Amino acid sequence: MEIKDPRNHFSKENGALSGEKTSKTIRKLKDMKGFYEDEEAFNKMDPETVLYEVEMHAPVKAGTEGGLFFGTSFLNPGKVGEEFFMTKGHFHEIINRAEYYWGLEGEGVLVFMDEDGNASAEKVCPGSLHFVPGKIAHRLVNTGDTKLAVGACWPADAGHQYGPIAESGFGVRIKEKNGTIIAE
Ligand SMILES: [Fe+2]
Repeated sequence: MEIKDPRNHFSKENGALSGEKTSKTIRKLKDMKGFYEDEEAFNKMDPETVLYEVEMHAPVKAGTEGGLFFGTSFLNPGKVGEEFFMTKGHFHEIINRAEYYWGLEGEGVLVFMDEDGNASAEKVCPGSLHFVPGKIAHRLVNTGDTKLAVGACWPADAGHQYGPIAESGFGVRIKEKNGTIIAE
């Protein structure tokens, strides 16, 4: 029997993916209208500004029960007004599906929110590991001066629900005020 080479690789430094069945999604400022508090600051910025990119390995079709997806999110450093660049954040479409996140590069915050709107947050750093239980919305925020890279693994049938977040947010925003990182 032949022992084959691996079909995929990820960078040990930042989690960048290579090999088969990988894809990349790019989120720009213009994709996140209404997500940031300071609309005046938002409107002054270049709508083509890249906020984050998600690389993903999808060995099965989306929606496959029992399947897994693997990905790495890369958030650029920056702010809209006082608020740090962040991902849209989501509940899973099948809401009880859980997920793992792990910090690879840079400094950030992972924000959680339950279905009643109660928020909490954890620091993300290289080597940090985060379990996101089912029924909990999750969002990454880059609070550093460099790129934030975070790995993730989630069920292939989890799906994403952005609607509730777009409408009412996370109930908490991660900002810099007087040189301090705060959640308010
Ligand atoms: Fe998720």
